[in-house]
Amino acid sequence: MCGIVGYLGHREAYSVIIKGLQRLEYRGYDSAGVALLNGDLNVYKKKGKVADLHDFAKGENLKSNIGIGHTRWATHGEPNDVNAHPHLSNSGKLAMIHNGIIENYSSLKTDLIKKGYDFKSDTDSEVFINFIEDIYLNSEVSLAEAVRLALNKVVGAYAIAIISLEDPNLMIAARKGSPLVVGLGKDEFFLASDATPIIEYTNEVVYLDDQEIAIIKDGHLTIKNVSDVEMTPYVQTIDIQLEAIEKGGYDHFMLKEIFEQPKSIGDCLRGRLQAKEGKLVLGGIFDYVTKTVNADRILIIACGTSWHAGLVAEYIFEEFCRIPVEVEYASEFRYRNPIVNEKDVVIAISQSGETADTLAAIELAKSKGATIIGVCNVVGSSIARATHAGSYTHAGPEIGVASTKAFTAQISVLTMMALMIAEKKGSLSESKYRALLFELESVPEKVAKALLLNDQLEEIAKVFKDARNFLYLGRGFNFPVALEGALKLKEISYIHAEGYPAAEMKHGPIALIDEEMPVVVIATKDSSYEKIVSNVQEVKARKGKVIAVVSEGDTEIPKMADYVIEVPHISDALMPLIAVIPLQLLSYHIAVMRGCNVDQPRNLAKSVTVE
Ligand code: F6R
Repeated sequence: MCGIVGYLGHREAYSVIIKGLQRLEYRGYDSAGVALLNGDLNVYKKKGKVADLHDFAKGENLKSNIGIGHTRWATHGEPNDVNAHPHLSNSGKLAMIHNGIIENYSSLKTDLIKKGYDFKSDTDSEVFINFIEDIYLNSEVSLAEAVRLALNKVVGAYAIAIISLEDPNLMIAARKGSPLVVGLGKDEFFLASDATPIIEYTNEVVYLDDQEIAIIKDGHLTIKNVSDVEMTPYVQTIDIQLEAIEKGGYDHFMLKEIFEQPKSIGDCLRGRLQAKEGKLVLGGIFDYVTKTVNADRILIIACGTSWHAGLVAEYIFEEFCRIPVEVEYASEFRYRNPIVNEKDVVIAISQSGETADTLAAIELAKSKGATIIGVCNVVGSSIARATHAGSYTHAGPEIGVASTKAFTAQISVLTMMALMIAEKKGSLSESKYRALLFELESVPEKVAKALLLNDQLEEIAKVFKDARNFLYLGRGFNFPVALEGALKLKEISYIHAEGYPAAEMKHGPIALIDEEMPVVVIATKDSSYEKIVSNVQEVKARKGKVIAVVSEGDTEIPKMADYVIEVPHISDALMPLIAVIPLQLLSYHIAVMRGCNVDQPRNLAKSVTVE
C-alpha cells in the first residue's frame, strides 16, 4: 500500500526522503509528496510518480534536516494533487503522512466541521491530523500526548508520521496494522514502511509493534504504547545488502527476481537441507513438528500468489504426510465463522508479512486456540511476529509487484516442512524421503536450466502479445501452477487469463476455445500425464493454440502442440518449482511488449495492508 519515509538528523532530509520514496514506490504509486521544516512548514505533493514530484519540487527551497514523505495507493479519494500526502492541519502547523484507513473518519469529520474545521481533500488522513490538532489545541498536553489520545479514539489501521512547525527537533510516528520501522543512525533517525529506504544509512532498526508510538525528540527515541506505558526499544541489526534492492543491470525488478531464483531457492534451502547426510531441519518449526504430526488437520491461509503456494502445499502435505489439508483465502476465512480448534495447525503464508486479511485470519484462528506457523519473506514483519512459530523464506527483498521468487521460496519452505513432518510421522518410506531430499537439492540447478528458455519465451510472447484472452490448464501438482501463470499474465499485461484444472475444461471453459484462444498447458510427465494428453487433444480438436510446458525428451505432446517448452524433469511434487519459470517469463515478455509497467502494474500494491 502506501509508503512512508521520515528523516530527522544532519543530512538533507529531502534527498533521503526522495531516494527512500523511490525505493518504496513499489508499495503505491498514484501520487507522492513531502513536507519539510525550514522555518516554514512546506508541503510539495503531486499526482503521479516520485519522479513527477521531484520535477515539481525543483527550484523550491528544499533545505531542511527534518521531513516526511509519502507514496500513495488511493483508498479514500481519487489520486490527485490534493488527496496526495502529506496533509496539513487547519492551522498549517502540523503535517502528517498516513498509511491505512480510519474507519470512523466520517463521524470525526462531522464533529470537526461543527467546530469550524474545513477540509481540502477527500481523505480520511486529513480528518485524522485535524482530529489530533483539535485535541492538541484544546487540552494542555504535549503534541505526543495529543497523538496518543487521538489514537485511542480512532478506529482502523494506521502508520503515521507527524512533524510540527513548533518544534524542528520532533518527529512522532505510530502504527497499528500498517508496518513502520525506525532506523537509528549516529545522531539521526529514519522512519519507513520497510527497511529498504534505511539500509543505505544504518542497519540498526526498531520495528514498532501495533499500538506503539515513537517519539523522536532532541536526539532521543522514546517508545510508548497507546495506554501510555513506556517500552524498551528492541534494536535489531538487519542484514540486507544494497544490491538486493537495486536492479543490477536488469530492465525490471521482475526480470531480475525471476533470474534470481536459483540463488533465492538455494538461500532458502541452505543450512536446512543436506541430502547426503539425510538431514533436513527447519529450526523455526522444530518444536512444532510433533504438534503438527498429531493435528486433526492443517489449515493454510493466504492471499493471491501466496494462496497458490498454499494450494501446491495442500497436494504436498496430503501426499507426504497423510494429514488432511484445507486451503483458505484469508479474506473469506476471517469473515465466515470458521470451525477451528486447538488441534488445528494453521500455516499462514505471506511474502510481505503485512497482508491485512492474512493477519486478521491469523488472529481469528489464534483466538480459537489453533497453533499458527508462518511462512514469511520479510523478517520482523507483522505476520512473522503474530505467529507461534515459522520459517522465513529468505528470498531477499522482492520489489516487483508481481510475486515470482517469493512464490518458489514459499513452495521450497513448505516442501521442507512437509518432509520434516512426514519423516517424524513415518508416512514416507526412508528411500522415498532420501530421494526427495536429493531432488529438492537439485532444484536450483534445474531452475537455472529452465531460465535458459528465456529467448524461446520471448519469441512465443511476440506471437501472442495481442491476444485478448488466455487459458491455463494443469492437473494435480501443476493445477496451482496454472492458476499462478494466469494471475501473473493478467496482473502485469492486463490480458484476461484464467487458470483451470485441465479436466474441468469440459465443464464450461471449453466453450471459449477457438482458433484465437491461446491455451497454456502444463503437461509434464507425471502421474496424470496420459489424462493431460487427452486434454491437449480436446483443445486442438477445437483449433485452440496450444503452448505446452513438457518434460525434456517428451515425444508425444510435441506432435500435437503448437509451441513446446521443455523443462528439466523432476518428480511430480517438485515440478511446480520448475514449471512456473516459463510462465513467469512468458508474462514478463508479453507485458513488456505491450508497453506495460511491469514492476508497478496499475491499481496494484505490493503490500496490501487494507482489507
Ligand atoms: C501477485 C501477488 C499478490 C500477493 C498477495 C499476497 O503477484 O504478489 O497476489 O501474493 O497480495 O501478498 P503477501 O504474500 O505479501 O501476503
